[in-house]
Amino acid sequence: MIEKVRCAEKALELIQDGMIVGLGSGTTVKEFIRLLSERVREGMDIRVIPTSIDTHILAVDYGIGVTDLLEHPEPEICIDGADQIDREFNLIKGGGGALTREKIVASASKKFIVIADESKLVEKLNMPVPIEILPFSLGFVKKRIEEMGFKLNLREDRGKLRPVISDNGNIIADVDAGLINEPDKFEKTLKIPGVIENGIFPAEMVDAVLIGKKDGAAVLRR
Ligand code: A5P
Repeated sequence: MIEKVRCAEKALELIQDGMIVGLGSGTTVKEFIRLLSERVREGMDIRVIPTSIDTHILAVDYGIGVTDLLEHPEPEICIDGADQIDREFNLIKGGGGALTREKIVASASKKFIVIADESKLVEKLNMPVPIEILPFSLGFVKKRIEEMGFKLNLREDRGKLRPVISDNGNIIADVDAGLINEPDKFEKTLKIPGVIENGIFPAEMVDAVLIGKKDGAAVLRR
């Protein structure tokens, strides 16, 4: 999809020699990794901190140097996609199940830049919110969420028995809460013991959103 390439190109303009770059996950980030690898081949000296095994494998395949938060606890920048972006720049992430590492690397980075095509923009967040659950706590977490009046759906994947398991060995599920009027508040509501992380990324985390269009990219700032 050309729109994904356009926003990835715009993000590439922010990458400078010597940077440590947090690397998100998903199909839009894949375009960014491909473009970044061209710069690396031309001699750019950067290293990346991947947020998923998928991104890690891709970075290595493309010959991009990989590091981690132990060596570099404060990356200069993090580039990542999103599943939904509301008018205030609150995000839902975790469609690929990588939300926990994504939230950690985005929080650790000096700047968090979101890349997405126009289809991700919504008036208000409204899709089921991905959460990562420690398997030991599943029954309790399910009960708590149902008591709040929401439905917990264990994530399914084609050809695999439920549930989808994260890179961290935990259960990925989705909380169907309908329209989310106060994302910031809902993010905190989902902090139930046993829920490792949830996929609401409040607007205060986001420095800019780069929206890919057919003929270029728009830069939106908070
Ligand atoms: C991964 O868990 C997600 O948070 C992705 O960042 C998000 O789903 C965006 O993915 P696409 O770029 O593939 O739409």
